[in-house]
Amino acid sequence: MKKRVLVATGGGDCPGLNAVIRAIVLRAGQEKNWEVIGSVNAFDGILNEPNEIVVLNEKEVAGIHIRGGTIIGTTNKGGPFAWPIKNPDGSWGSADRSDEMLRRLQYLGVDAVINIGGDGSQQISNKLFEKGCNIIGVPKTIDNDLQATDFTFGFQTAVQEATTAVDKLVTTAASHNRVFVLEVMGRYAGWIGLHSAVAGGAHVCLIPEIPYDINKVMEKIYSRFHHGRGYAIIVVAEGAKPVGGEVYYSKSDEVGYKNPRLGGVAFKLIHELKQAGLETDIRETVLGHLQRGGTPIAYDRILAAQFGAKAFEMVLNQEYGKMVAYRHPNIVSVPFGEVLSAYNFVDPGSDLVTTAKGIGICMGD
Ligand code: F6P
Repeated sequence: MKKRVLVATGGGDCPGLNAVIRAIVLRAGQEKNWEVIGSVNAFDGILNEPNEIVVLNEKEVAGIHIRGGTIIGTTNKGGPFAWPIKNPDGSWGSADRSDEMLRRLQYLGVDAVINIGGDGSQQISNKLFEKGCNIIGVPKTIDNDLQATDFTFGFQTAVQEATTAVDKLVTTAASHNRVFVLEVMGRYAGWIGLHSAVAGGAHVCLIPEIPYDINKVMEKIYSRFHHGRGYAIIVVAEGAKPVGGEVYYSKSDEVGYKNPRLGGVAFKLIHELKQAGLETDIRETVLGHLQRGGTPIAYDRILAAQFGAKAFEMVLNQEYGKMVAYRHPNIVSVPFGEVLSAYNFVDPGSDLVTTAKGIGICMGD
């Protein structure tokens, strides 16, 4: 009987997931005694009754590397350690079904698991590993907030989308003598904001790592206007906050959704600017999930291919309890403990922040 590797994609989707799945399948196809199966919607496919497991072979993955999303689906709710359960009074609680999941994996003849996901998913990977699961992680997120790897796949595609948005806002802002606020994703890290602001030539860039002073932002805007003529582009990361202030978020009422929902800081910033006396026309664009959907750019397809092929090689070498990572110029493996020990923030003293300031971008400080 052939050995089996099970692939799951967890957390928010991200351009390049399919390219990783394809690379795993193509690499595994070179070994005569291995086959690949996929769990639908992260690990839900194993725990659902009846289970939802799909065969992943060369035919199934042909051409999928250019497609956004994930052909096996994903979820950022629940999971084996916090499975949503409806209480008799109608409220929702959660149950730990991880032991049951491990039994089900055994029953399915699964020898190894490759979990493609961000920090939340890799925390699940680590807990499963500690319970004896032969598991390997692949880092995914447009936010680039996993510190063990130089880049996560999907990040560069999101940056490209955000940069395209800056480019487009420049022409309409200049035509109308307006200020535009572009809100980009990234959770508690400013990677997408910083990179797209530099690439697009924004005038202000506000990121979580550098709390902003609204007066500094006002000064920069006014330096861009003369006798009512001019324009300015502000890129604001969703996790940005003013000096002494907090991240702007709401609580989701979706069952099993634990994360705070970031988003809406652009509206808050405009309110603050008006309160500080801004009189120019100002508009907001919230880019949202356009950064996450659609086809991955070439860079992310290549990184995804490298991650997928390496992940399967780690299965062959039984390098469990580790995540694939990119440390230029190598693709390496890093223990989960190291992966999860810190969050990957933008360093306010880093060269790219210095470059941004050097080309006249106001970082709010
Ligand atoms: O982690 C990726 C990400 O897109 C964040 O940038 C964003 O805050 C969050 O996911 C949005 O999640 P959801 O798709 O659940 O709204």
